[in-house]
Formats: sequence, C-alpha cells, structure tokens
Amino acid sequence: MRANLVSPSSAHLSYAIRDIVKFGELVRRYGVEITWENIGDPIAKGEKIAPWIREILHEVVEIDDSWGYCPTEGFREAREALAAHVNARAGARVSADDIIFFNGVADAVAKVYGFLSPHARVIGPSPAYSTHSSAESAHCALPHLTYDLDPENGWLPDLVDLRRKIEKNPSIAGILIINPNNPTGAVYPVEVLEQIVALAREFGLFLVADEIYIHMVFPGVETVHLSEVAPDVPAIVMRGISKELPWPGSRCGWIEVLNRDQDQNFSAYVDSLVAAKRLEVCSTSGPQLAVPRVFDDPRYPAHLEARARMYAERAQEALRELGSIPGVRVNPAQGAFYMTALFEHGALNHNNRLPIADPTLREVVERQCKGAAPDARFVYHLLASTGICVVPLTGFYTPHPGFRFTLLETDDAKRAWIFRTLAQALRDYLESDKGAA
Ligand SMILES: Cc1ncc(COP(=O)(O)O)c(C=O)c1O
Repeated sequence: MRANLVSPSSAHLSYAIRDIVKFGELVRRYGVEITWENIGDPIAKGEKIAPWIREILHEVVEIDDSWGYCPTEGFREAREALAAHVNARAGARVSADDIIFFNGVADAVAKVYGFLSPHARVIGPSPAYSTHSSAESAHCALPHLTYDLDPENGWLPDLVDLRRKIEKNPSIAGILIINPNNPTGAVYPVEVLEQIVALAREFGLFLVADEIYIHMVFPGVETVHLSEVAPDVPAIVMRGISKELPWPGSRCGWIEVLNRDQDQNFSAYVDSLVAAKRLEVCSTSGPQLAVPRVFDDPRYPAHLEARARMYAERAQEALRELGSIPGVRVNPAQGAFYMTALFEHGALNHNNRLPIADPTLREVVERQCKGAAPDARFVYHLLASTGICVVPLTGFYTPHPGFRFTLLETDDAKRAWIFRTLAQALRDYLESDKGAA
C-alpha cells in the first residue's frame, strides 16, 4: 500500500467478552460442550419475551412508518414520551430535543467518544466495560484513563482516587459512570452519585452515565437516575432496551442530554453528535415506536419488578455456592445480571491447573496459557475442563485477577450446575498446586 491503512486507534480496540469466544470455539472442536457464560444476552440464554410485549411489536409492524427511515434524532412521539419519563422523575428538565436515538447504546458510545476532541479525555471506572474503555482509548490513540472501583467496598468508586486523577490530569474533561455496573453488579447509592456530580461541578467537567441497567436494580437496593441528582452539570445519559425488555437485537438506545444550556462548548459537541448521526440517516425505526408503547403500558412496572426479583434470587443462589471459597472473594450483585469472583492476593500461581482428559487439548491449553494473565489461565483451564466460558476480569482494564459470570441461565437445573461446577473448579484449581509447593 502507498500509505499505511491501519489507524493507530486500532491497537486500542479490544472486547474481552467476545475475544474469549475464539478460544471457546477451538475447545469445542475437541468435543467439549460449551456453556457460554460470557455475553450479557438474556435471549441467547433462553429468556422469552413477555407475550404482551410481543403483541405490541405486532402492532408496530402494522404502522407504515415503522418500515421507513425516521428523523435523524428519532421519531418525535418516542422522544416526547421519553422526555416525559425523565421529567416525571426529575422535574421539568428535558424536552424531546434532548433525546436522541442511536442503534443501541454501543452506537451512542462510538459517537460520544468518536466525535470528542482527542485532547479531551473521559475517565472511566476500572474494572471497565470494554465498549466504553476501548472507544475512549481509540478516540485519542492512548491508553484509557481509569478510576478504581474498590472490591473491599462493594466495588463502589474510590472517590479519593478519582479526585486525585482529575487534579493531576488537566486533559480530563468528563467522568463516566456505569450504574448499575457491568461487570461488577454494583449499584451506586445516591450520595456516591452526588459526590461525583459535585466533582464534575467543581472541575468544570461533563458526565457520561451509562444507565442501560437502571431498571434492573434488585429489591431493597436504592439508587437514582443521574437526572435526579445533576440539576446543573452537563451530562449525557445512555439508556436502551437491550437488557430491560430484553431486546438486544433491536439495536435501539438513546441519550438524554442534561443541562445543555449550561455550557456552549458542550452544546456544540452535542450538535456534532447529531451531525455524525445524520451521515447514517437515522437509527432503527421500528423499535423506537415500540418503546413508548411498552414503557407506558400499565403492565411494565410489574414486568421490571419481576425480572429484578428473579436476578436478585439468582445472585443469592450464586453467592451460596461461591461465597465461601478460601482465596476467592465474591461480592453479591445488587443490580443488572453479572457477578465477579475475585482471586485474593497470593491465591494464584503458575502451577494451578484443572484436569483436562484429552492430552492434545491439554497441550492446546498449556500453549494458550503461555504469557497469559493469571486469571486468563484459570478461564482457559475452566473452559477445557468444564466447558464453562467466563470472561477474565483483567480483560476489563483492571489489575484485579478474577472473572465475570452471568446470572442469565434460564434452566434452573443448568444454572445450579453452572454455579456448583464453578465453585468446584475454583476449589480444585486453587488446591491443585499444593503438591507442587
Ligand atoms: C454497560 C453496558 N452498556 C452498553 C451495552 C450495550 O448496549 P446496547 O445493546 O444498547 O448497544 C452493554 C451490553 O452489554 C453494557 O453492558
């Protein structure tokens, strides 16, 4: 080629949640049945869409507009309905003009970082969700900047660390919050959100809040939408229907722009996001027409409650199996449908192994483990030994070794097997070096 075709940003793209699939497929070729515990897709794990939501989609199909393009920002009726939801919670704060549809939150993420000046950085949580961390990193071709989530404190943000990093680095222009959190399952109390808002206010920063799981907070756990605690700080809140309907295949999400009038530069940046979206014409039309019909249906609150209760019970089920293994720390999820298991300091070493019957597969795993992070070594052994595919925690931009698994399996017996097998594998793995020591 006359010129290098490869963008320097490409080195910063990684998505551990799907990267592990390649090795899973390889292991499958050796006859191991794989249980995919890596991806947050409730449909793939057998969840059935509620019949009344299906009926709404049948109605939407009958609307001619659902088959055409829509305005770049999205259908007015859907944007008005979503603005009314924000205002019902947080007072008269936004108008339909402040709601902009995207092809899923992931598309919003790509635009939000992709059209941000490369000199303006957004600091995000660690462990990080790769869609954000990779996109932020790629927008400036530099490593992502992170603040710590503290496993000793229920994975809540370490606000001292966040302040210190903001003070030290003047290129930080924004703070990312993911609440409820992927991968940790933590839910942030109001005071934590208020303190992050106060930091943004103090340093003249904007906020990005990924609230894709905000309607999946477990019973008895308290949090709020960012719109309820950020009356004056410019912010972009990301929402969608992939997880809560759940309809990940809709590729439908939106942003709520808060307090745009507070800062001209922020407002110009939001205009640039719409201009970028205009090049694509618009986002998926049909799902937008379904959103207000589902959200305003009197059956929806009960639907959300039942799902939150279901995941809360599954989190307890996981905790019962995995919560008391020496060398492993498991914080119970408080929302969303993920949990992380963390290896305590010194628990892992390079002699740990799980039994793998097929000698050729054992060699494949040994090769894969060369130079791999200690938690990835566990994940590779787990895959080959049990067929369970989880994601190494260090794939989420964190030095903490561990792994993320989901609470999504719908078959009760299979789910019980997954948690039981994970627990046994952890015990066996951590015990396996005792003879060698
Ligand atoms: C925190 C978070 N944000 C965004 C997404 C992607 O959302 P969407 O399907 O709307 O693109 C996910 C998917 O797992 C997620 O966990």
